[in-house]
Amino acid sequence: MSHPHFLVIPYPILGHINPLLQFSQVLTKHGCKITFLITEFNQKRMKNAIDHLRTQINFVELSDGLDPEDDRSDQPKVILSLRNTMPSKLHNLIQNINVLDGDDSKITCLVVSKNMGWALEVGHKLGIKGALLWPASATSLASFDSIPTLIHERIIDSETGLPTRKQEIQLLPNSPMMDTANLPWCSLGKNFFLHMVEDTQSLKLGEWWLCNTTSELEPGAFAKWARFLPIGPLMQSDRSKSSFWREDTSCLDWLDQHPPQSVVYVSFGSLATVEANQFKELALGLDLLNKPFLWVVRPSNDNDRHNHAYPDGFIGSKGKVIGWAPQKKILNHPAIACFITHCGWNSIIEGVCGGIPFLCWPFFSDQFINKSYICDVWKVGVGLEKDENGVISKGEIRKKVEQILGNEDIKARSLKLKELTLNNSAEAGQSSKNLQKFINWANN
Ligand code: UDX
Repeated sequence: MSHPHFLVIPYPILGHINPLLQFSQVLTKHGCKITFLITEFNQKRMKNAIDHLRTQINFVELSDGLDPEDDRSDQPKVILSLRNTMPSKLHNLIQNINVLDGDDSKITCLVVSKNMGWALEVGHKLGIKGALLWPASATSLASFDSIPTLIHERIIDSETGLPTRKQEIQLLPNSPMMDTANLPWCSLGKNFFLHMVEDTQSLKLGEWWLCNTTSELEPGAFAKWARFLPIGPLMQSDRSKSSFWREDTSCLDWLDQHPPQSVVYVSFGSLATVEANQFKELALGLDLLNKPFLWVVRPSNDNDRHNHAYPDGFIGSKGKVIGWAPQKKILNHPAIACFITHCGWNSIIEGVCGGIPFLCWPFFSDQFINKSYICDVWKVGVGLEKDENGVISKGEIRKKVEQILGNEDIKARSLKLKELTLNNSAEAGQSSKNLQKFINWANN
């Protein structure tokens, strides 16, 4: 029997590269052939991870169209550059691969992530099937796909995407009520909104919209949208993860020395940056805890222009600060008691699979909806609230950590949710069946 050959094309940030790499690994286990496209810039930054995976995955590179010194944390700039410069190069790349690999092994399907709808257009012109692997919640994807309806119902403005008035809506059955000001594009500006309207349209060339989630976590999305297919949780080993920063594994030995459920883990993913005064308050708040903490403070580099100054009086003796964590291992370590998170979807899925209660600190985009799922639907966490100055105070941090660690119901629900979620990836689980359905489709 022949196996499909997938060309996997992530938008070049970690929050997209990692789920697509994990998905690629799952596909290789089913005998599929994978060619994985990365940008030349990221190839240099991820060299180690790529070298580990070369035996299973064929990596190919294209330029992102930017100069080496350009700021790649400027997302609008990256999005525009990819769209303007990559389509013709991708077209040629696919043709070259197909010539080299011969008839038996031609690319059968493209799998792209958000912002990469243009790649499905290239594939479509070449007669190649396509699919989207959405790197966030199915609900956030549903919200983007609902934009025309939201405009039609005058809930949002057609030019800016901003709410026409203050109100709460329910996007999907069984999903949390949401303030329309928290729709995922509202925090990212008009140009991003207009880009997403276009991108979502192009992504419709994908027959399947695969989501790293389960039908129990977000039931409403799968009842309403036929092309949505839950295939989560993507739980490959840390080997299938890449990183732009060097992982500090010394924290695992440090965790081994702590009793079960005693350490507060703090991480805000790969993009969010904490403003200077908020950073100080967080540091002081962690110092106030009568618990040890493990805190990820990403190093300053081209992706992070903020240089963090620790406040006077910060002792930090109960804690450990690291630059980049082996996060999945940490979230599965018995010493972890709770997770202070920015509510990025990958972090949430990883935390759910670790059975860890959450303290939610959303920054932008889909992170507000994700927080609502954690606090209001699954009830496995609580939110950190800003004070009248827009700051999450040290007192709030201490109060909420104590609240969550003393809440046995939240702990019990977190463990239950873990079991329910992991069952999906078992052989007879729903996500495994969906994956098989997808592979069969790609092969026909
Ligand atoms: C982005 C968006 O910001 C987020 O809103 C969206 O839901 C997904 O895409 P990011 O902010 O990076 O992602 O957050 P997240 O989705 O949580 O992904 C971060 C990844 O980096 C996770 O897989 C996490 O395990 C990993 N990570 C994070 C580490 O490996 N080590 C760390 O120290 C921190």
